[in-house]
Amino acid sequence: QPRSIIRGVGGYLPSRILTNDELAKTVDTSDEWIQQRVGIKQRHIAAEGEFTSDLAVNAARRALDAAGLTPADIDLIVVGTTTPDLTFPATATLVQAKLGMHHGMAFDIQAVCSGFVFATVTADSYLKNGMARRALVIGAETNSRLLDWTDRSTCVLFGDGAGAMILELSTDGERGILASSLRSDGHFWDKLHTDGGPSSTQSVGHLRMEGREVFRHAVGKITDVVESVFAATGTTVDDLDWFVPHQANRRIIEGAGQKLGIPPEKVIITVDRHANTSAASVPLALNEAVGDGRIKPGDLVMIEAMGGGFTWGASLIRW
Ligand code: ACO
Repeated sequence: QPRSIIRGVGGYLPSRILTNDELAKTVDTSDEWIQQRVGIKQRHIAAEGEFTSDLAVNAARRALDAAGLTPADIDLIVVGTTTPDLTFPATATLVQAKLGMHHGMAFDIQAVCSGFVFATVTADSYLKNGMARRALVIGAETNSRLLDWTDRSTCVLFGDGAGAMILELSTDGERGILASSLRSDGHFWDKLHTDGGPSSTQSVGHLRMEGREVFRHAVGKITDVVESVFAATGTTVDDLDWFVPHQANRRIIEGAGQKLGIPPEKVIITVDRHANTSAASVPLALNEAVGDGRIKPGDLVMIEAMGGGFTWGASLIRW
């Protein structure tokens, strides 16, 4: 049965690194507090004039190189982002133009931190339905532009970056996306949101979060959706080689890992160096683990994320 296989991944982080100590000079916080509560040491921040589409294109080119492909080989671009260059058009269309493409289709997915998982599942469905043959799936964010840099409870948590993955429909054996599950519950919209938007305030607004509430829901929702994907495929946590969670917070990752019974050595962690890059965090973590040889062909990999909305989801992939 045809499945979407992973042809390549790529990642891009802006060169500027902002450490906790530097942040502590502008807001009332400390390296110790941030490391203890969330496990973050530093984050990357996009340069002035460097937009989400620029980060996305850099990650996309690296994924294309890794796959030995060119933009001519792609006929679908899906970008998960909460920080588009412009309110419209979709950042995916800007990426398409920067890659020199006139063919195919490109659109964005808005599922906040779950954006990459939602984009992956969307692209997988398009491929299986015959709407496209090869997809470029990207998570890209310039979260630094959405933060209130005077609010210590949020500004320490996020960073900028992009990750990309190329999916191709294949009948090549057992590889590919085996099963996925997506969920949302809009009743929780105000727990994590921006206090602005084109329709309500005609402004962008800033990210606002009830951290405790988000934390309270995160572990349960993540483990639910991961367990449902295991059940759908008849696999268990013992079959898993790598758990690649959304990188919001080390304590959420550890809590979910413990509840699911996943040994810490099978969990990919980047939050210490990248902070929360929202939709970019999962593909950046995949890129790192593929690049350093941890994730190898044939490995069973679970990706998962949870974010504003709330939205949450997971996919199980035979790499
Ligand atoms: N530095 C120092 N002190 C701080 C900071 C900071 N950066 N931020 C908050 N505090 C203070 C608060 O003001 C409060 O002080 P008070 O007791 O004098 O009022 C104290 O620390 C405790 O605040 P809480 O918000 O109760 O702290 P908590 O232990 O809940 O930690 C945190 C806050 C880290 C945000 C936690 O709630 C959390 O991790 N939540 C999950 C949120 C998250 O990861 N969101 C990411 C986006 S969602 C997603 O991707 C899943």
